[in-house]
Amino acid sequence: MKNIKNIIILASGNGSNTVNIIRYFSKSGSKINVSAVISNIPDAPVINKVRNIGNQVAVFTVPFTKNTEIITFEEKITEIVESYGIDYIILAGFMKVLSKEFVSRYEWRIINIHPSLLPAFKGKDAIKDAFNYGVKFTGVTIHFVTGEVDSGPVIMQGVLMISEEDNLSTLESKVHALEHRMYPLVLELLADDRIAIKNGKVKIHGENKKKFITALDLDQFSSSINL
Ligand code: GRF
Repeated sequence: MKNIKNIIILASGNGSNTVNIIRYFSKSGSKINVSAVISNIPDAPVINKVRNIGNQVAVFTVPFTKNTEIITFEEKITEIVESYGIDYIILAGFMKVLSKEFVSRYEWRIINIHPSLLPAFKGKDAIKDAFNYGVKFTGVTIHFVTGEVDSGPVIMQGVLMISEEDNLSTLESKVHALEHRMYPLVLELLADDRIAIKNGKVKIHGENKKKFITALDLDQFSSSINL
């Protein structure tokens, strides 16, 4: 029988990556099953977007307020993760930093997407920071989560050129379009057990490796995706 990987997505905001991943893997025979989505923000747009897709993905809110202890918060997340037999925890715009304890419990099973070419432009305003800096190239990084924010072995990077015609909004659209193309590819690699970590670096094995290591798309992603 085919080995299906169960994933859970943690998201705090708009949810375009979450929706994109759910739609991508909703076809029958898919190797990835999106079991649930958890948001720490009770009115985040991602919640209704996932509910409106109308499939079987469970949606949970686990609010994190200024009085919430990180331990209590993460215990609730762990309970959900365990109850669904989750293989991978996928962060897609999840704005809460997970504790070192949580990360080590799920070592090499938590993946994040960041909208810059790490280690450049860490932090929550990566697209704006890259645009304001005036770099000529930026992109997207998908990486394993370790104890440090926006760090950890890089699985895939995608590169975009910033032209003089770009403004912040066109750049954001290009970055998001590239994210939507990359995240499903990385999840397919995980589903096929093609990712290994050796000496702190990601190695991809199997066919067609180049396709998965760098998505170099200079002009292709100029149109925005409407999610
Ligand atoms: C993405 O740009 C992702 O790289 C970053 O947060 C954003 C989430 O976007 N970590 P969305 O909520 O998936 O639309």
